[in-house]
Amino acid sequence: MEKHPAQLFVDPHHVVGRVDPRLFGSFVEHMGRCVYDGIYEPSHASADSHGLRGDVLDLVRELDVPIVRYPGGNFVSGYRWEDGVGPADDRPSRLDLAWRSTETNAFGLHEFAEWCQAAGTEMMLAVNLGTRGVDAARTLVEYANHPRGTQWSDLRVTHGAPEPFRVRTWCLGNEMDGPWQIGHKTAQEYARLAEETAKAMKWVDGSIELVACGSSAPSVATFPDWDRVVLEHTYDHVEYISVHRYLSRARGLDDYLASGIHTDEQIEAVIATCDHVRAKKRSRKRIHLAFDEWNVTPTRHEGPGKEEPEDWPFAPPIAEGTYDAVDAVAFGGMMLSLLRHADRVRIGCLAQLVNVLGPIKTRTDGPAWRETIFYPYLHGSRWGRGTVLDVVAQSPTTPVESLGDVPMLDAVAVRADDGSVTVFAINRSTDAELDLTLDLRAFGDVSVIDSLTMYDAEGGARNTPDEPDRVLPRPLATAVDGSTVTASLAPVSWNVLRCGVTRAATVV
Ligand code: AHR
Repeated sequence: MEKHPAQLFVDPHHVVGRVDPRLFGSFVEHMGRCVYDGIYEPSHASADSHGLRGDVLDLVRELDVPIVRYPGGNFVSGYRWEDGVGPADDRPSRLDLAWRSTETNAFGLHEFAEWCQAAGTEMMLAVNLGTRGVDAARTLVEYANHPRGTQWSDLRVTHGAPEPFRVRTWCLGNEMDGPWQIGHKTAQEYARLAEETAKAMKWVDGSIELVACGSSAPSVATFPDWDRVVLEHTYDHVEYISVHRYLSRARGLDDYLASGIHTDEQIEAVIATCDHVRAKKRSRKRIHLAFDEWNVTPTRHEGPGKEEPEDWPFAPPIAEGTYDAVDAVAFGGMMLSLLRHADRVRIGCLAQLVNVLGPIKTRTDGPAWRETIFYPYLHGSRWGRGTVLDVVAQSPTTPVESLGDVPMLDAVAVRADDGSVTVFAINRSTDAELDLTLDLRAFGDVSVIDSLTMYDAEGGARNTPDEPDRVLPRPLATAVDGSTVTASLAPVSWNVLRCGVTRAATVV
């Protein structure tokens, strides 16, 4: 096998920014089997008295997911939140036009709040700006966050929640630029509605933070002008603009492995648009990004919604393709891009958490299992918190049709508050090993606490209910000499190097 040298230099003083823990958030939508038969399945052997699956909760706790967006997605654009509260027997069944399914409303806001508490995570709610607007959004904020003494807050108390849910982060609709969206709008139409809705929601609760809908993908014709128009109206009323992206192998393996570069380009275009509006408005405020839907889609399901179910089933399987180690590498590339922009990307929501493109999969007659993408997500969530440090990476390049020559090595370094440094590194080459030299000279002598690698050792092997641990991270061999660590990175691999250091340096 070919081998190439690669160098990585990390300096504690070259800081990108603090990681907002919400960067490792996720997303639960009433879509397919994400809610029903996913997080909620009263008849499952592991379910608690509320119907919440214990095996799924265990895996979510393992991932330490800080925030979860709910209830959609495309679903929210036809949703009446009132349908999902109150006595379960009184809740209506409705047609869900987004996924052509039947929604029973057995699971709603209170069940989600209970699930979040059990999972140790924070709620992030989206309001319906497709078929509804200002009034339904402000009454939902009143229901969820107002202490008591009004019709909507007292109704919450009547429904068994004396304390307000105190939801901090709210999305003003979902993908409103897309013709597939129920109640799709032009940029002007959405911008005005979002502006007025934002004002009313904050008049109810001034402590909340709002996410305006950005473009749903760079491929949408109105990108990024949509974002400009939306921000021109909402700039003073929102904290974030949303970014969505799903990447797949459809344009070839090389292109897929450049996932981090595609994601960088999108993030940087949205940041430029935010700052353009900032300059026009002569504003001191900066808008941050909520990358509140991101993922790779496995080869057998190139995108959400491609496998449309028969009309109106209950919780049909949608987008449940399984992932291999190559998917885990492309997934890691997107996550590195989010980390690299930690100064502007504050929120990230992996779409979705269970079954629908999920890192966690379930079946009714057995335990939940971890997909390959579970592992880079776990590594990021566990060791990607702290301060992102800028890296200088040197490696040969590899050609990608849509991008030109791209470096084989992609890497990000994060310094944890205990001083340890974690380097996440990808080898994008499909046929060459990278002999990596990690130079940490500004940190004094180093030691390797832990080192892991994931690559496709078995030609497309996947984790399945019968073989749930077939594809796992394995130890990565390293050598240390003073402040230098060396390791050989396999072609198409995801790698983690956790280093202890002896020299204290300023941590911002
Ligand atoms: O995550 C699946 C779907 O993808 C979401 O409902 C929608 O927002 C996006 O198009």
